[in-house]
Amino acid sequence: MKYKITRNIKYDFVGQSYSTAYPNLHKYPATMIPQIGIELFKELNIKNGKLLDPYCGSGSSFVVGLDRGLNKMYGFDINPLAILISRAKFTKVNLNTIKLYQQRLRCAVYNFVKKEENLKQINVPDFYNIKFWFSQNILQNLSVIKFFLEKIKNKDIKRLFLVAFSETIRECSYTGFVLDFPFLC
Ligand SMILES: C[S@@+](CC[C@H](N)C(=O)[O-])C[C@H]1O[C@@H](n2cnc3c(N)ncnc32)[C@H](O)[C@@H]1O
Repeated sequence: MKYKITRNIKYDFVGQSYSTAYPNLHKYPATMIPQIGIELFKELNIKNGKLLDPYCGSGSSFVVGLDRGLNKMYGFDINPLAILISRAKFTKVNLNTIKLYQQRLRCAVYNFVKKEENLKQINVPDFYNIKFWFSQNILQNLSVIKFFLEKIKNKDIKRLFLVAFSETIRECSYTGFVLDFPFLC
């Protein structure tokens, strides 16, 4: 059987990125820009129904579903980071509540690190090769932040902060790209 291959430049989205259409909360490998799915759904005239993405990653297909008015969407992923990002992306949280938690967190960390003896309470992770990725100072600072994130009781808010924390971990590592699970689990 032979297939004819045609080029449809409509799907190139040259010069566009994820954030041209929707905010991208967290970097994720092999992310699909939502513009592709949105265009495809328009072409197929999909406006309702349920969406299942069994390899949902950071949830770009759900962005598409939301854009096209679908309100029942399900996803799986083997990677806990993918689930964290997807859940955080699609959980409604009150902006003022986030700001309040952010202020509290900042104050708590600031006051905590003022007393050097407080740092003895902090559990700094140690596993094979961790020093390859982080300096001791960075490890300690990240561990302080994690210590306070763990105290957040509101699960939706905590998830959102963990997504930001995950990006912070990457940015602070020697390469800017590292598996974040030891901090996130
Ligand atoms: C190309 S990525 C999907 C990216 C997603 N479309 C996005 O825009 O973020 C493929 C995903 O499949 C997931 N995956 C691989 N094997 C899997 C499995 N057996 N079960 C569930 N998810 C799996 C990976 O963890 C990865 O997140």
